[in-house]
Amino acid sequence: MAFLDKIVEIAKSDVQTIVLPEAFDPRTIEATHKVLEKGIAKVILIGDEAEIKSTAGQWNIDGAEFINPKTFKDMDKLVTKLAELRKSKGMTEDQAREILMTNVLYLGVMLVKMGYAGGMVAGAANATGDVLRPALQILKTAPGIKLASGAFIMEVPDCEYGENGIFIFSDCALNPNPNAEELAHIAVSSANTFKALVHAEPHVSILSFSSKGSAKHPDVDKVIEATQIAKALAPEISLDGELQFDASIDAAIGKKKAPDSTVAGQANVIIFPDLDAGNIGYKLVQRLAKANAYGPVIQGLSMPVNDLSRGCFADDIVGTVALTALQAQMQNK
Ligand SMILES: CC(C)(COP(=O)(O)OP(=O)(O)OC[C@H]1O[C@@H](n2cnc3c(N)ncnc32)[C@H](O)[C@@H]1OP(=O)(O)O)[C@@H](O)C(=O)NCCC(=O)NCCS
Repeated sequence: MAFLDKIVEIAKSDVQTIVLPEAFDPRTIEATHKVLEKGIAKVILIGDEAEIKSTAGQWNIDGAEFINPKTFKDMDKLVTKLAELRKSKGMTEDQAREILMTNVLYLGVMLVKMGYAGGMVAGAANATGDVLRPALQILKTAPGIKLASGAFIMEVPDCEYGENGIFIFSDCALNPNPNAEELAHIAVSSANTFKALVHAEPHVSILSFSSKGSAKHPDVDKVIEATQIAKALAPEISLDGELQFDASIDAAIGKKKAPDSTVAGQANVIIFPDLDAGNIGYKLVQRLAKANAYGPVIQGLSMPVNDLSRGCFADDIVGTVALTALQAQMQNK
């Protein structure tokens, strides 16, 4: 079964509620119809029900819940909570009300924070930063995790490596130059993402141009330190570094270059030392190996929020809703 079909089946097995705040975007409406029709998730759309339905055309969105900021009965509760959460940044109740009445992304994130939904998907009509900022400010990172990062699920055709050709690559989207501690947190978050989305045992490799001391350089030292920190943070995870990519995934090369490593040769979670490597690496595999790249999946937040490309299609929104639902399922456990 293709990766996305599997994700959809898992999403349907424990249905979550996902907020789609960009209800004015036609692709969101088409996606809502498809998500509801397939039973992938319950959907909250933000805006006036009659107005949104008048634009729905052929798409049936009757099963959605509508939250209109102008009439929402619990708005005062959200205002009080947002002002409380952002008090240290000087936010007043008036400012909190203004932002929740006018910015659907902040309202969507607050609906997640207050438990009306398990996650949010947006970005069809908003820039990445505008989607992520409220999530980072309000939801914050998960307990024990220092920073949010962006993973791609790579589905490589005809590939014997990884989990039958499935890998998590990260960080490919958010943190340009992580230090050793940040890299360690990215590795732990990525293992959790692998468990949530691939439903298999993660084997995490922190990449370098050196395998187990084959080269000496401050960049190698950073990866060695990150590996030590990650092992201390999550000793239960199968994780190792510093390893080159070939030694990470290929058993014969892993045996030669890192004979004592329990991860070398079987890695399915690939951690790049910085964003240059991560972003370039996922695009190389996507283009040259004709792999499907799903993401970026934002990981490390206390509750899931995912960003879309502004060039996305309705089916991309459906897939991202399913991925977000699986992250929400994991968070509930
Ligand atoms: C992530 C991003 C939204 C941060 O927003 P910003 O406007 O620069 O604002 P700040 O740096 O003040 O961060 C806002 C909040 O997010 C937090 N934050 C920023 N980056 C974070 C991270 N990686 N993990 C956790 N929290 C983070 C900050 O601590 C801050 O919290 P606070 O307001 O409670 O103190 C911004 O860097 C961005 O737009 N990145 C673009 C990412 C992108 O386009 N990637 C390529 C596409 S895939």
